[in-house]
Amino acid sequence: MIYLDYNATTPIDRTVVEAMLPYLYGNFGNPSSSHALGAAAKDAIEKARSQVAGLLNCSPSEIIFTSGGSESNNMAIKGVAFTYQHKGRHIITSKIEHPAVINPCRYLERLGYQISYLPVDQYGIIDPAGVEKLITDRTILVTVMHSNNETGALQPIGEISRICHKHHILLHTDASQSVGKVSVDVQKLGVDFLTMAGHKLYAPKGIGALYIRKGTDIEPLIHGAGHEGGRRAGTENIVYDVALGKACEIAAEALKSPAVKQLTDYFYQCLREKFKDRIHLNGHPEKRLPNTLNISFLGHSGQALLSRLDNIAASTGSACHSGLPTLSPVLKAMGVSLEVGLGAVRFSLGRYTTKAEIDTVMEKLGLII
Ligand SMILES: Cc1ncc(COP(=O)(O)O)c(C=O)c1O
Repeated sequence: MIYLDYNATTPIDRTVVEAMLPYLYGNFGNPSSSHALGAAAKDAIEKARSQVAGLLNCSPSEIIFTSGGSESNNMAIKGVAFTYQHKGRHIITSKIEHPAVINPCRYLERLGYQISYLPVDQYGIIDPAGVEKLITDRTILVTVMHSNNETGALQPIGEISRICHKHHILLHTDASQSVGKVSVDVQKLGVDFLTMAGHKLYAPKGIGALYIRKGTDIEPLIHGAGHEGGRRAGTENIVYDVALGKACEIAAEALKSPAVKQLTDYFYQCLREKFKDRIHLNGHPEKRLPNTLNISFLGHSGQALLSRLDNIAASTGSACHSGLPTLSPVLKAMGVSLEVGLGAVRFSLGRYTTKAEIDTVMEKLGLII
């Protein structure tokens, strides 16, 4: 299998697995216990928290471990909505968010909150000026993703944060796709909340984190005992916390290597040379995750192409509902036509992708097309 679907999920890094093993076997203590086994477990969690904080450039006390991107998004969005509803019930988000942001927003709409959905340009990028236009004296939160999962489009979070802070509005960003692929520094971004998902950066599925800026308290999603500083109840998932910490430590080093970007650029160059104007890049030519290529093969169906690309894993930008092909909300928001959008295939490369694999994919694509 040639795996070009790293935006869907990543394999667990071997070093991460090795870091997890001692906590699957001998070190099974409860971090809340006062004996030595408990203390060892607590030390392991706090080390992992520091590793996550190190990657995001924040203090360990600002990191909450969660079950993944979906939970972190829900915690931030509902947490702000419930805690600050006395100030207002208006939230601004975008049309290209992952369902893990869109659906908590839809839920809040059912509770009587007002949600505004920002449009994007043809490259899938939000105009920060559009955020300012939507702000009212009832706005309590802006939630805009750091990068898009389908196109890799990087959003101007720094500019959006300056606008939010000018108006004293909290800002959350879903950086599930960005952490581990590009540098993500919460100080530079100026965000109040940031979501990350472990399985997008070579840790297991079912672990993630939420950065909560010091001094911004929100109502927890899960009430119970005082775990995670009283912000998320439940005995800690030590094995997975350790895994996320290790994955972050590795990512900090891996980010220094241009290998994935070089391979993605090579792939795009091969595609352009071979198919010329018979392909179209969905997304921005530069303001994009360095591993993501969302390519429309004009006159072809992305789904049909993928089904013929034996042993190659990638994704499409369309779905088939009751026999009718439909575009993803992301491509639709970018104004991509049905004809072009149906030919879209998302290739996302990663740490283990090789040039030989790209050459094989090019060969197979050439034969099929
Ligand atoms: C942008 C984005 N946000 C959130 C999620 C959800 O993360 P998780 O699967 O860890 O709940 C994903 C996963 O695909 C994603 O791509």
